[in-house]
Amino acid sequence: MLIDGYGRKVNYLRISVTERCNFRCQYCMPEKPFSWVPRENLLSFEELFEFVKVAIDEGIDKIRITGGEPLLREDLDRFIGMINEHKSGLDLALTTNGYLLEDTATKLKKAGLKRINVSIDSLKPEIAAKIAKKDVLGRVLDGVEKALEVGLFVKVNMVPLKGVNDDEIVDVMEYAKKRGMRIRYIEYMENIYAKAGLKGLNGKEILSKIKEKYSIRKVGREGSNPAFNYITDDGYKFGIIDPHKHDFCESCNRIRLTAEGYLIPCLYFDEAMSIREAVKAGDIAKATEILRQVLRNKPEKNRWSEDGAEESARAFYETGG
Ligand code: 5AD
Ligand code: SF4
Repeated sequence: MLIDGYGRKVNYLRISVTERCNFRCQYCMPEKPFSWVPRENLLSFEELFEFVKVAIDEGIDKIRITGGEPLLREDLDRFIGMINEHKSGLDLALTTNGYLLEDTATKLKKAGLKRINVSIDSLKPEIAAKIAKKDVLGRVLDGVEKALEVGLFVKVNMVPLKGVNDDEIVDVMEYAKKRGMRIRYIEYMENIYAKAGLKGLNGKEILSKIKEKYSIRKVGREGSNPAFNYITDDGYKFGIIDPHKHDFCESCNRIRLTAEGYLIPCLYFDEAMSIREAVKAGDIAKATEILRQVLRNKPEKNRWSEDGAEESARAFYETGG
């Protein structure tokens, strides 16, 4: 079992398989980065898998594949299959923008993927296009239908932005509700890469939009999940991820691995250690030692603040949000 310096049990690994993305979301990557990590710096699936085995041996039982956009890595289902065959029964999930989902959902499900999270910030084609800087909505929605059809559990993520999509908070909820999907609203987290001047809605503002139509009751957090859950009077459960409250670090159970092999103890924390050389050399003992050391370095709280005073320079698309 992996226990960090503050007594938190860490059982959740998020792997960003690429920082590249085919969207340019205003809140994440509005411009193409000046330079991408060169492809030859990416760890191969085999190398990533070397670390995954170590992590599972040490007590990781929940793995989420993220990006950038993870489906840009060719044959991602092969990587998922490798993990699933090594240990079935893992909680194996993927976060995607949905653009490539229609063609990949069947393969992903077959490989052992159980759950996906898809971002849907708007149901209006022109607003979705404005947010992602690309005409994406039709393909994303087709991808979601396909994922449901093949039996993947799907959750929807929405980042409400003032004057952009805040009039669609209920609409996106009802879209999800109709299909038996949970929605989680994520407060916009200010960061140096996002489009200037962007304003997000906080949890309270999001709730008040929903209260215009539904009466709601608090449910609370489930385990280490950062979302705080609510239920509507007609029995639909939804969540709000409210990083501005800074109170979910105490139950944090996660660590992150980037495509280049950096092991990061916390999203907003610059210290990281590389497992790159260890996995390239097949040195299991070294990889294990680095994992344990990163656990010891896991900070009590993230260093993110909305005013950017202690801003981390690491982008969401590198660490997978
Ligand atoms: N603030 C809040 N959420 C963000 N995401 C990406 N960048 C930000 C940000 N600055 C979310 C996306 C996606 C998930 C991976 O992270 O909406 O659903
Ligand atoms: Fe890409 Fe996701 Fe960032 Fe949008 S939020 S640019 S889809 S990585």
